[in-house]
Amino acid sequence: MSAVHKVIFDTDPGVDDAMALYFALAHPAIDVIGITTTFGNVTVQQATENALYLTRIAGVEVPVAQGAAVPLSKKPGPPPDFIHGKDGLGNLASRVNVPGTAEHISAAEFIVSMARQHPGEITLVAVAPLGNLGLALKIEPNLPKLLKRVVLMAGTVTEPGNVSPVAEANVWNDPDAADLVFTAGWDLTMCGLDVTHRVVLPSSLFDALAAKHSHIATDTLQHAVHFYSTFYQAIRPELGHACYGHDVLAFAWLVAPELFKTQMGRVRVARSGEGNGQTMMDRLGTLFYPEPGWEKEKPETRVCMSVDVQACTDLIVNTLSGDWLKPAITR
Ligand code: BDR
Ligand code: CA
Repeated sequence: MSAVHKVIFDTDPGVDDAMALYFALAHPAIDVIGITTTFGNVTVQQATENALYLTRIAGVEVPVAQGAAVPLSKKPGPPPDFIHGKDGLGNLASRVNVPGTAEHISAAEFIVSMARQHPGEITLVAVAPLGNLGLALKIEPNLPKLLKRVVLMAGTVTEPGNVSPVAEANVWNDPDAADLVFTAGWDLTMCGLDVTHRVVLPSSLFDALAAKHSHIATDTLQHAVHFYSTFYQAIRPELGHACYGHDVLAFAWLVAPELFKTQMGRVRVARSGEGNGQTMMDRLGTLFYPEPGWEKEKPETRVCMSVDVQACTDLIVNTLSGDWLKPAITR
């Protein structure tokens, strides 16, 4: 199969980001042509270091551009080191030396430049706070026409939030940027907690993967997933030693949309008060008392509402089990 999806991956690695990155590198229909980083699970500097590290140890040299260090206007908070570790990868005991540095342009400039060079060809998969896309829209308002599509791991419609009763972390981290993204007018798909909380991945799957490949990249992922699963087991003992795949589901939708049931509708983001970071979807499409901001002309988002859990889990495991790893690039 030739790679049909030319992807820029916008990420804050992050354990599930690492899982998603490796899924993308492993899947034959995906060609990762660039990575853009943001604050979120870790600082943006750590996110960049992790993106360089994860790609190089998997034997891949893909450009990495550093992006947003803080939200567009919300006051920044500390990274959630109790979920992903201080280093974002479950506190690795040591790291090998890898070559490479970030691009000399920002993440937003990188996205715009690549989109202008390849109009209509690039899929942007964003699984982190959405400041890079928000800033890219400010540089190039025509970006929604220049990108082929945008796929998000963000938000929630019917599932409770994971940072407040109503807010998902990526949206909550930068609600202003998220609202810009939901109203920009691209071909937009949202994989939020409605589907990501259905796909529970036992840490034993990653033990088996590490045993099969015997490679530094899958050993690193195994370590990170163990840390992450210990966090989830503490808050959701019923899951066992397991975690949510979150970010990897954005790629699962990209390569296997038939595994998801979706609904189209306008989505807006609450940007203040107790609902801060909530993604609100007009699921009926018939508003008899239209509020400003919900005009019919506002663009719609394709929202993933349910997923075939077994088929999605099999897709993730089979893809990561394939023959995709190259010798690590070290110095
Ligand atoms: C999202 O927040 C981050 O912590 C994860 O990497 C994922 O992108 C889940 O809400
Ligand atoms: Ca993420």
